[in-house]
Amino acid sequence: PHRPYEIDELISAKAIAARIEDLAREIGREFADTDKLVVVGLLRGSFVFIADLVREIDLPVEVDFLEASSYGDGMESSREVRILKDLRGQIEGRDVLVVEDIVDTGHTLKHVTEYLQTRHPARLRTIALLDKPARREVDFKADLIGFEIPDEFVVGYGIDFAQRNRNLPFIGKVRFTDEP
Ligand code: PRP
Ligand code: MN
Ligand code: MG
Repeated sequence: PHRPYEIDELISAKAIAARIEDLAREIGREFADTDKLVVVGLLRGSFVFIADLVREIDLPVEVDFLEASSYGDGMESSREVRILKDLRGQIEGRDVLVVEDIVDTGHTLKHVTEYLQTRHPARLRTIALLDKPARREVDFKADLIGFEIPDEFVVGYGIDFAQRNRNLPFIGKVRFTDEP
């Protein structure tokens, strides 16, 4: 049983869509010379973002997924990132863009990028829709960031709280209603 909470909108669906158009244009410029771009989504949180992002990228792309988990059902990072599902395809010598919903402590993306580097991609870049620098515990910064956000617990657009609210079309922040 969870504490009661409400969700206040932080970033609208419209604002997300507009930002994704910019990000896709930047990706188009950065990878203009490649015919081997693999876009890798980190399950589960990135599934909405990657779906919208790849549809704005005007390049031939392949899509693959990797599952890493650190949070489980809690609100705190376990700091112990586990690879639960690996890529289907090969990335050696290929250009890879890792797509993540949010960088919080930084443990997940730092671990995943180090893991993928061992396979020797030609280029490895990262994009995160949200960046919460106030919570960083390791030195990591995504190459492309949609929005920098304050230290709030956010949900929606793929991001869960105890596996709920991933289906909200906007980014909202959790406000507990059992204390003032
Ligand atoms: C969440 C989120 C990021 C990660 C960010 O994933 O989707 O992947 O945590 O946190 P960090 O920067 O502190 O590592 P989670 O482990 O909850 O799995 P999920 O994507 O399946 O919800
Ligand atoms: Mn995640
Ligand atoms: Mg989660």
